[in-house]
Amino acid sequence: MKTLILNGSPRKNGHTVALINEMTAVLEGDIKIVNCYTANISPCIDCRYCFTHKGCSIKDEMQDIYDYLVDCDAVVIASPMHFGTLTAKTISVCSRLQSYWSSRHVRKENKDNLKPKYGALIVTTGGSWPNMNLLAEGIADFIFDHTETEQIGSVYAKETDKFPAKENLHAINQTRFLANRLNELCSSRNKD
Ligand SMILES: Cc1cc2nc3c(=O)[nH]c(=O)nc-3n(C[C@H](O)[C@H](O)[C@H](O)COP(=O)(O)O)c2cc1C
Repeated sequence: MKTLILNGSPRKNGHTVALINEMTAVLEGDIKIVNCYTANISPCIDCRYCFTHKGCSIKDEMQDIYDYLVDCDAVVIASPMHFGTLTAKTISVCSRLQSYWSSRHVRKENKDNLKPKYGALIVTTGGSWPNMNLLAEGIADFIFDHTETEQIGSVYAKETDKFPAKENLHAINQTRFLANRLNELCSSRNKD
C-alpha cells in the first residue's frame, strides 16, 4: 500500500503535523509526505502545455508527485484552515493537478492511468463557526476528483487556539479510524 500525504501547514510541529503523526502511526506500507511550504513546487502558470501534451512543462518536485500518484492507493490532504479554506500553499501545489483535468476534458485522452484511490481530509482550525467546513470540503473535492480519489471521510480538529490537536482525543480517534479504514479498503482493493 502506498499513501501520499499533502502537509499544508507552515508550522513544523503544529496541530496538523500532530494529526499527520497519528495517521502515519496506523497507516500501512509506503508513505510519501509532501510539505507544501518547503517543497520546490511552482503553482500552475496556465502555459497550456497540458492542452496538447501528457504531463506538465514545469520540471520541479511536482514530477515526483505525478510519478507517485500513478500507482499509489491513498491520498491524505492535511491542512490548517487559513481564510476559511485549505492553506494557499496547499492549493498552489494542487493547482498542478490541472494537467489531469486537461487530459480528461481538453485532450479527451484519459491516458493518465491513475490507479483509483481512497482519500481522507484532515483540517485544523483555530476557531469554530457554523458551516465552516464548506470551503475546505469544496477545494478538497476538486483535489480528490483530479486524482481519481474517493473520499472516505474528514477529520476537523477545531478551536486549536483553546484545544491543541494533540490533546483532542475525538480528532485523534477519528484520524486513527480513518487510517485503519484506508488500510482495510486499499488492501481489499489490492486483493481483487
Ligand atoms: C493566515 C491564517 C489564517 C487563518 N484563518 C483561519 C480561519 O479562517 N478559521 C479558523 O478557524 N482559523 C484560522 N486560522 C488559525 C489556524 O487554522 C489554526 O491555528 C491551525 O490549527 C494551525 O494549524 P498548524 O499548527 O498545523 O499550522 C488561521 C491562521 C492563519 C495563520
